[in-house]
Amino acid sequence: MGKKIFSGVQPTGNLHLGNYIGAIKNFVDLQNQPGNECVYCVVDLHAITTKQDPKILKDNIRETTAAFLASGINPKKSIIFNQSSVSAHAEGSWILGCVARMGWLNRMTQFKEKAGKDKEKASIGLYIYPVLMTADILLYDASHVPVGEDQKQHLELSRDIAQKFNLDFKAPNFLRVPEPLIQKNFSRIMSLKDGTNKMSKSDPSDLSRINLTDTKDQIVNKIKKAKTDTEPLPDDEKKLNQRPEVENLLGIYSSLNNQSLQDSIKELSGKNFSKFKEILAELVVEKILPISTEINSLIKDKRYIDSVLKEGGEKANQIASKKIEEIKKIVGF
Ligand code: AMP
Ligand code: TRP
Repeated sequence: MGKKIFSGVQPTGNLHLGNYIGAIKNFVDLQNQPGNECVYCVVDLHAITTKQDPKILKDNIRETTAAFLASGINPKKSIIFNQSSVSAHAEGSWILGCVARMGWLNRMTQFKEKAGKDKEKASIGLYIYPVLMTADILLYDASHVPVGEDQKQHLELSRDIAQKFNLDFKAPNFLRVPEPLIQKNFSRIMSLKDGTNKMSKSDPSDLSRINLTDTKDQIVNKIKKAKTDTEPLPDDEKKLNQRPEVENLLGIYSSLNNQSLQDSIKELSGKNFSKFKEILAELVVEKILPISTEINSLIKDKRYIDSVLKEGGEKANQIASKKIEEIKKIVGF
């Protein structure tokens, strides 16, 4: 039987190679497996948990949509929409927020990271962010949720909330308990400047990431400047210990080539970094430049992008509004 897939990406600008390898590339693979029903959401309600400039947010919503389309998500096969256009997400989040426990949310490491030292000043939205994420998933009865490694804890919370709701309201199996789909390998792409930090939209250094809208020259230059060390490439996976930057570059190479780390090591061992970087840059350009070119062309056609979101929003609303009505009935409204 096919899977029901739901996932989301925040429209907060600077979509990068980590988003592509950790998430969007898998969205496309899942869409193309027969029998799957996929819903991909531009999670704009999540974006405003940190301060956004309204004009830039609007552009970023379109750009993230364009990145979905340019990467191969097909609006005829998958539902593509933005979260704020379907009001059931906000409603569901409130109801599930009354099921989730403070103790559970207090353990969320992403909140601690994002809120930083001054937790008192973080928005309440940032704190309950994983509850909204839970509503996203449960409204569509998703069986599987493809995400990068950093979202694993949020997925576990979603499972707990679904189970508690079913138990509290004596509605066995009503909310489907979702499974995370996290790739075993390459689910955490690291910064090109520091192999112990993940590649991130918000890193102040643009050289730390390859953006999905970068030009050929930018891609080549960033790979040339990526941090490495003085040893040649290893001949054994075990020798990657203590060499996080090298492991990351080999991971990027393997993932984009759809091959195992071991096979890449076999292919490349003994090469020096200038040669490896040349080969890697060529591969990244081959895979990412067509996406970048397509994003840059699509975002000029705002009407088309808006029409994709509108159509997707209508389809999503049909599913989600039915589920939220059932939820309300169960709760006693
Ligand atoms: P976000 O940009 O935070 O909305 O993330 C969108 C998706 O990309 C989520 O599934 C993340 O887990 C994934 N993701 C973000 N950064 C990385 C990274 N550095 N490596 C792998 N996956 C990532
Ligand atoms: N929290 C996710 C992230 O930052 C984005 C997201 C929101 C999401 N809702 C979701 C992912 C539902 C999967 C399913 O990456």
